[in-house]
Amino acid sequence: MGRLDGKVAIISGGARGQGEAEVRLFTAEGAKVVFGDVLHDQGEAVAADVGPDAHYLPLDVTDPKAWQAAVAETTRRYGPPNVLVNNAGVLLFGVSMVDTTLEDYMRVININQVGVFLGMKYTVPAMIEGGAGSIVNISSTNGITGYGGTVAYTASKFAVRGMTKNAALELGKHGIRVNSIHPGGVETPMTAPETLGDAITDEARDQVYAMLPLGRAAQPVEIARLAAYLASDDSSYSTGSEFIADGGMLSGVVNPEV
Ligand SMILES: NC(=O)c1ccc[n+]([C@@H]2O[C@H](COP(=O)([O-])OP(=O)(O)OC[C@H]3O[C@@H](n4cnc5c(N)ncnc54)[C@H](O)[C@@H]3O)[C@@H](O)[C@H]2O)c1
Repeated sequence: MGRLDGKVAIISGGARGQGEAEVRLFTAEGAKVVFGDVLHDQGEAVAADVGPDAHYLPLDVTDPKAWQAAVAETTRRYGPPNVLVNNAGVLLFGVSMVDTTLEDYMRVININQVGVFLGMKYTVPAMIEGGAGSIVNISSTNGITGYGGTVAYTASKFAVRGMTKNAALELGKHGIRVNSIHPGGVETPMTAPETLGDAITDEARDQVYAMLPLGRAAQPVEIARLAAYLASDDSSYSTGSEFIADGGMLSGVVNPEV
């Protein structure tokens, strides 16, 4: 018996990082998973490795038609989705507000914010038909507080936190719960030195993690476990809530003398 037996999940951005960890954990816990991404080779490779309980399809979260196709394919293959994890996202880091171009700002908003809206908009009708569901929206600690040099990302993640509450208010009567997850630093390709380039030195990044109460970044599976909890019936009385997994980042500042 798995904790996610009977669950049919759609996961966006599942080709790598936290999304991949969710695909692997959810199927191990008994769920059937359809996942999408814009990294097709990596997505296909993950699906082949996981086996028949997971199916990869191309899903650019900014494309309404791709969402409609993903919901239709999920329903055809495994039945109507009763779990949605809006995980896909991009980071724009280390750029001041004044230097952020409108084009870059809109790209981040389109993927991180509009993508979550579209995911819920097109998945919810099928969930209502199925009679129940759980939606997990991946925000960030940047959805709760600011971090200099991330204006577009922070705006998008605050929006995800807000629309989660709106959706929870509308969908409770259909037996659908909607919650947000707020990870702190997680070791994925998004935060790897190759991706961040000159935006932060290795020393500065290590220092940020060292200052946390837990003194380290998270591994992707540590966020996936929280997503699995929210997807499962173990979290049956939680909706419209914020679930933080940040190594203590938001609790304040450690005093190294004490
Ligand atoms: N890594 C962190 O420290 C951290 C912290 C807080 C929140 N998050 C959030 O967690 C989520 C997962 O990020 P991650 O850390 O695994 O990063 P990641 O870059 O490894 O994974 C993000 C995935 O989203 C996909 N993606 C990007 N644009 C897409 C689009 N238009 N359509 C579909 N898929 C798209 C990417 O191809 C990638 O596979 C994101 O929403 C991110 O903002 C990450």
